[in-house]
Amino acid sequence: MNKKVLVTGGTGYIGSHTVVELQNEGFEVFIIDNLVNSDIKVLDGITAITGKKPVFEQLDLCDSERLRGFFSLNPDIESIIHFAAYKAVGESVEKPVLYYYNNIVSLLNLMKCMRDFRIPSMVFSSSCTVYGQPDKLPVSEDSPIQEAVSPYGNTKQIGEEIIRDTLHACKDLKAISLRYFNPIGAHPSSHIGELPIGEPENLVPYITQTGAGIREELRVFGDDYDTPDGSCIRDYLHVVDLAQAHVVALKRLLEGQNKENYEIFNLGTGKGVSVFEVIESFERVTGKKLKYRVVDRRPGDIEKIWADPSLANKEMGWATRYSLDDAMKSAWDWELNYRKLK
Ligand code: UFG
Repeated sequence: MNKKVLVTGGTGYIGSHTVVELQNEGFEVFIIDNLVNSDIKVLDGITAITGKKPVFEQLDLCDSERLRGFFSLNPDIESIIHFAAYKAVGESVEKPVLYYYNNIVSLLNLMKCMRDFRIPSMVFSSSCTVYGQPDKLPVSEDSPIQEAVSPYGNTKQIGEEIIRDTLHACKDLKAISLRYFNPIGAHPSSHIGELPIGEPENLVPYITQTGAGIREELRVFGDDYDTPDGSCIRDYLHVVDLAQAHVVALKRLLEGQNKENYEIFNLGTGKGVSVFEVIESFERVTGKKLKYRVVDRRPGDIEKIWADPSLANKEMGWATRYSLDDAMKSAWDWELNYRKLK
């Protein structure tokens, strides 16, 4: 098995945790990242955990010439895990062209390289956003794809379609798209974690930054939804569980265990958790009271979604191992460590 893998976006949140798990499994990791939304210091965090520094190339995947140059110089890379993308839902509504250009052109450039440099395997970072608000919960992979609510979400739908159509035509290529639900938490070592630039969009970094006194209070976006406590429901999974799923998916491709040349799996716990339950978990594991206020609903939020992860459980032998409390504790430890508060 060729163990040289390119991880695009490998200094990002999910990317960096995946690099650690790959290195722990003996893979030789090459990272490409343009560092627009991540910090080069993440490499030190990875090295502190694994004792190995991944090869790093600062490169924009939209720069097709440089990307081709990279593959020419590294002809023995045989697989790709593709994370690099813009991911802020709100920003994508403001700057659709930027999002479509970046997320689609980078994927197209990579797929051209897969074909031209004979790199047969790719794992693609997709999202449960492709389901919109499903009629039936939990949501399984065969649930209908709904019209995207944001350009960001649409780039994930289009990305999946580009891969599906390309692989339909090129039977010697294979890929797995992983539809993530809501990744949270940090590596238990606290050497790497989520590092939002500016004000966080996502719930858990907002909570930990509020707990650390960097934000004044959490705004809970709506308590009048049709859910048991009125707040939105999501399927929160520990980022280390998610990272391990990428290693499992990659091995499945490299060992030829895939049943078709394009497969799609949901990655979630299978359990729906409300915003108030996330807050309670934070308070339980930290012993701190969180300051929060209920405000209006956030435009574009869906009411409730959680995964049916049974396909990934059965086919890939993958299941989440960490609890919500584990994830919240690790997110808090990371925040304290990063802010040098302990
Ligand atoms: N929330 C708050 N206050 C905040 C932030 C979030 O109440 O300050 C609530 C949201 O309303 C939502 C829940 O917390 O109910 C989770 O919100 P996140 O922003 O953390 O996550 P989303 O589910 O909105 O978005 C995530 C990913 C997106 C992806 C989407 C797919 O961040 O990339 O799931 O549904 F598109």
